[in-house]
Amino acid sequence: MKRNPKTLHNICLLTFQFILCFWTHQVDADFGKKNQMQAIAVEPLEQWLVQQEIISEKKLLQNVSPDGTFPGVVIASPQDSNPNYYRHWVRDAALTMDVVLSLSVRQKVKLQKLNKLMHDFTTFSRKNQLTDSLVDLGEPIFEVNGNVFSGPWGRPQNDGPALRALVLTRWAKQLLQEGNLQYVRTWLYANELPAHTVIKADLEYISHQWHKANFDLWEESKGDHFYTHMVQRKALLEGAELALTLGDQGAAKWYQDQAQKITSELEKYWEPKKQQIVVTRNNSGGIDYKSSQLDMAIILGVLHGNTVQNYSFSDDRVMKSFNKIVSEFAKLYPINKVQGYPGVALGRYPEDIYAGTDFNGGNPWVLCTLAGAEYLYKRAKQLSQTRPKVAAQLIAQADQFMARVRLHANADGSLSEQINRHTGFMVSARDLTWSYSAFLTALWARKDALKGL
Ligand code: NOJ
Ligand code: NOJ
Repeated sequence: MKRNPKTLHNICLLTFQFILCFWTHQVDADFGKKNQMQAIAVEPLEQWLVQQEIISEKKLLQNVSPDGTFPGVVIASPQDSNPNYYRHWVRDAALTMDVVLSLSVRQKVKLQKLNKLMHDFTTFSRKNQLTDSLVDLGEPIFEVNGNVFSGPWGRPQNDGPALRALVLTRWAKQLLQEGNLQYVRTWLYANELPAHTVIKADLEYISHQWHKANFDLWEESKGDHFYTHMVQRKALLEGAELALTLGDQGAAKWYQDQAQKITSELEKYWEPKKQQIVVTRNNSGGIDYKSSQLDMAIILGVLHGNTVQNYSFSDDRVMKSFNKIVSEFAKLYPINKVQGYPGVALGRYPEDIYAGTDFNGGNPWVLCTLAGAEYLYKRAKQLSQTRPKVAAQLIAQADQFMARVRLHANADGSLSEQINRHTGFMVSARDLTWSYSAFLTALWARKDALKGL
């Protein structure tokens, strides 16, 4: 991407930055180089956002059904070794296709192309459901030829069916509005048991399994998870609405009742003594070193699983938890101690050690930093009528997180999974699909929040 050529200005600022950093002894010896130059990009944030939107749309779509893969596959990243992300993760794919749906509403994807992408995703998802697996629909990953990924892994992961049901239900509702009942009944939701359509099968799985221990979205901890319960509840509520529209009253009531139970269950994640939401309860396997229980998965749960019920954007318990998470990361990562850098680069959770290529220490993640921004924009939007001043402050704070991602993005706008905690360079899987979808949903939340002011 071409940058603003105010070189002299850049050099002066850069020099200042260097002096400041060596002086405060806060950064590793390999501090410096290209990324820090980008730190002082002089173009306004708005200009970068416009460029980055175009790049993100393009790069996201490149990872949907790319040549050489089974139609409907969404690769997590084109990188196929160290780490190998050239696979279809149910979670990443669903989140991506949700963005594809939004792109069509924004007329960036034409209807014919959208219908093809969504249809392929639907049939591929149904194929996944029918593929033999040890963990039923909780299977997290498929190879690009459609085979199940059979290596040792943290499974089942029960957020996957919920996220898949959510995007397909959203699509089904859109199709019904367009009068396409036939398609919906044939491919997406038929009032029949055993279920033979993709949404119905997912809803049956979720409604019977939600109370069972499973692996979290980071594929590491076994137990009950705030994130998973949030998205399961939302999937059941949205699914119940669809079931009602299609005359499946008994099922609708069953899904609603289960959602209600999850709502009560979710209350247990709030710890009044600690004044925070805890990410996992009843830990029964996987990693055991997440002592803080602070995790950006909590915020992602609010983003992907928001309803009008508990833990909405205006729920102060979420804000309290978010503030704690941010202050942990501010203390933890060397690049968060550099004076003058905007916002805070956010990782998954403070105890994280996974760096993509090794396990020598966790890093900030692009999608987590963007989720911080998106949450603040959405909270701002919700408070804009009652507390307009607070809303304006939240937007300004959120912009700092966006600016922080700009600082570490590659010069061509490409985004990997992680940001090296010492150098600020992009690391781990390149062109992570979820990084692009996280950018777009954060940006759209920003546009929405600004409209609300
Ligand atoms: C790969 C997973 O995708 C990642 O989330 C996890 O941290 C590592 N495996 C370690 O389990
Ligand atoms: C590792 C992340 O922890 C997980 O959430 C994600 O699904 C995979 N990478 C693939 O992107």
